[in-house]
Amino acid sequence: MSVRRLAEDSVQPAVFAFNEENAAWAEATIRKYPEGRQQSAVIPLLMRAQEQDGWVTRAAIEHVANKLDMPYIRVLEVATFYTQFQLKPVGTRAHIQVCGTTPCMLRGAEDLMKVCQHKIHHDPFELNADGTLSWEEVECQGACVNAPMVIIFKDAYEDLTPERLEEIIDAFEAGKGDQIKPGPQIDRYFSAPEGGPQTLLEDVKPVRTNLDAQPATDAAPVPPAEAARPKDTAPETDPKLKTPATAPKAAAANVKAAEAQPLKSEAAPKAAAAKAEKPSLEDKNRPKGIDRPAEPDDLKMISGVGPKIEGILHELGIYTFAQVAAWKKAEREWVDGYLNFKGRIERDDWVKQAKALAKGGEAEYIKVFGKKPR
Ligand code: FES
Repeated sequence: MSVRRLAEDSVQPAVFAFNEENAAWAEATIRKYPEGRQQSAVIPLLMRAQEQDGWVTRAAIEHVANKLDMPYIRVLEVATFYTQFQLKPVGTRAHIQVCGTTPCMLRGAEDLMKVCQHKIHHDPFELNADGTLSWEEVECQGACVNAPMVIIFKDAYEDLTPERLEEIIDAFEAGKGDQIKPGPQIDRYFSAPEGGPQTLLEDVKPVRTNLDAQPATDAAPVPPAEAARPKDTAPETDPKLKTPATAPKAAAANVKAAEAQPLKSEAAPKAAAAKAEKPSLEDKNRPKGIDRPAEPDDLKMISGVGPKIEGILHELGIYTFAQVAAWKKAEREWVDGYLNFKGRIERDDWVKQAKALAKGGEAEYIKVFGKKPR
């Protein structure tokens, strides 16, 4: 756990005040809480102060404490506990927080830190030469399933490789961080398996196990014929052993039958593979492709399209939102089958997303979906 202290006095400004817009926002935020509970606004107010000045100063902590009628120490505790709050000046374009907890470490976080050391500064919290970038190691950020990952301001970038992190850092340094989609950086839908769902693909049927075919042991098994026989019907028995003479034979037959019939776990992948057969590139339902335009649309803005899927779409000649927006049902099914998406194109409603993006870009997308595209 990193030691989190306020920055030295030499960099602390003497006073803090919200600007006009933020002051109005702070008043409105405080009013959201019931009388006597205004202290609940402490985190939003600290975050706003950080967004205004780039980091949380001592003066900001005191200002927020006064505003919420809280002891300074209580606000200081909050600011020093959460690593979302920066307690000293950080890079103006990006502060990279690399998760260094066990799952991320096991998946390559050390290599990500080496990238930060190489591209930004050898030591955490130190600015690069231009003052635009800085980095630090933080504890688990709750995205372990997509390890390794980093946080940059409010967004998480997951499933990283050193190469991908280099690209992301370069984009932020160039002031183009908003062009990088947060979330998984591979073909994965949130934390779903890479390449699409792998389980619960079929109706649930009774599962056969080897226990169904347990061979004769100390406790003699009951052959199916015996189990089905009415109780008052005497079985054929060996008079010496007083056990059903047919039992060993029937049990052996039972074992053989069970061995001949593959278990569900063996049969299922074959069935799934047969179902998931890729449609042919010559199929009439394959959407028509175009030559690569000078400036293709960023298809990754469509939820469900990552860098890998975008590459495949490009190979198919799909470069624009308008193309996706025009796909008919049969074409959507063809693409879904080609990507082995199992219905994800419909579920994510690529056509509706693409229509909004083709019509008015991010602004239209927000109007239609009430949130930014990924
Ligand atoms: S260990 Fe890195 S996000 Fe949890």
